[in-house]
Amino acid sequence: MTDTALAIVVLAAGKGTRMRSDLPKVMHPLAGRPMITHLLGTAAELSPEKIVVVVGPDMEIVANTVAPHPTCVQAERNGTGGAVKAAREVLDGFTGTVLVLYGDTPLVTADTMRRAAACADGAAVSVLGFRPSHFHQYGRLITDGDGTLTAIVEARDATPDQLDVNLCNSGVMAFDGRHLFGLLDRIGTDNSKGEYYLTDMVALARADGHSAAVVEGEEDELLGINSRTDLAIAESVVQDALRTCAMEGGATLVDPGTVWFHHDTQLGRDVVVQPNVVFGPGVRVADGVDIRAFSHLEGADVESGAVIGPYARLRPGAKIGAGARVGNFVEIKNADLGAGAKANHLSYVGDAHVGAGANIGAGTITCNYDGFEKYETNIGEGAFIGSNSALVAPVTVGDGAIVAAGSTISGDVEADALSIERAEQVTKPGWAARFRKLKGKGR
Ligand code: UD1
Ligand code: CA
Repeated sequence: MTDTALAIVVLAAGKGTRMRSDLPKVMHPLAGRPMITHLLGTAAELSPEKIVVVVGPDMEIVANTVAPHPTCVQAERNGTGGAVKAAREVLDGFTGTVLVLYGDTPLVTADTMRRAAACADGAAVSVLGFRPSHFHQYGRLITDGDGTLTAIVEARDATPDQLDVNLCNSGVMAFDGRHLFGLLDRIGTDNSKGEYYLTDMVALARADGHSAAVVEGEEDELLGINSRTDLAIAESVVQDALRTCAMEGGATLVDPGTVWFHHDTQLGRDVVVQPNVVFGPGVRVADGVDIRAFSHLEGADVESGAVIGPYARLRPGAKIGAGARVGNFVEIKNADLGAGAKANHLSYVGDAHVGAGANIGAGTITCNYDGFEKYETNIGEGAFIGSNSALVAPVTVGDGAIVAAGSTISGDVEADALSIERAEQVTKPGWAARFRKLKGKGR
């Protein structure tokens, strides 16, 4: 082949019946983003001339997710061959290599895609095969005596002998664009599902005297996701890769298998993550941060040397300054803690600014919501909020001010003042002893 231009077609029109879901299968997430987004990110690394995604008629959600890549609609879900036919309008006249990817096989690496595409240079079709440990669901690659690919047979259409073949079809196939649509038009539906199987292209190409090539890849990147169980297996593969990446970047994961990442989590060097920590979307952690066990972070920015947890919750908009501490059962939302500030126990800090070095005592609550709107709390540098205080926003506590324990503060406190709001304590000497005597009990 002289024209080595590349086009990529991603098939995503299938119903995903085996997922038993209202969400199209390719929208199910891996490390927090739809599997199709994961796949398209890799496909783009090949810098193809075009990428087109084939969707079903009722799949606006997929079309919106893959935009600006164009989509073609497969009006009738009549099989993977029918799906590629639906891309004809975009690919007609394209004479380069057409790489077909299945939206439910999202873990293929760019290198493997390149290897499969390169093989179509000289063959009418090249198929990426693999040898999975559980191969019952996959199509089998049938070869003749000298190992040349002659056909692909779907598991449900295979003879017992063919079922014994462990070389399987990953679904990644590359075609010489000059022959693609001519061969596609000849695919029939004489099979157990009555569908147009893309896999029939191999036998058709061979019958026309073209060659068909096989490239082999690794199971981990070629898993097809058909069920929730497959999804969980793929998630664990993605998580393992993210864990390795974090450790290679200089973070210690004390028990890697218990730390769950979002695809965009950023950890600095010498970050220590204790067991059972979950990262949601949009977390950036600077160097030298200690994240203790059972903490949950999303949309948070943590500066160097801070200590988070155990059992801390950082919600979107949490900005934790250098060396600050967020301890057990503390929830921070849309709030920044200045350098060295501490909220060590049992608190809610929301819609707030906390100055450097301030101390938020155990059980402090920023009352930021009146049932209709949210209000801000400002706590100055070096301020001290006594335990079990309620700060009723909007409210400001000035630099260096002290709020006495147990206070409900609804008016501003000036810098360096003490504010105390509690009923006066009354003590009655001997009262308890007299009470017990009356009840006939000693101490
Ligand atoms: C397919 C292959 C099988 C291979 C396996 C790899 C065929 C006939 N079989 O089987 O050889 O081992 O993948 O995982 O190709 N799709 C459409 N339109 C349709 C039907 C499917 O776009 O009408 C899309 C789906 O969204 C999915 C992909 O094609 O992304 C594969 O479809 P699926 O039904 O999952 O095929 P398998 O039975 O897994
Ligand atoms: Ca599949």
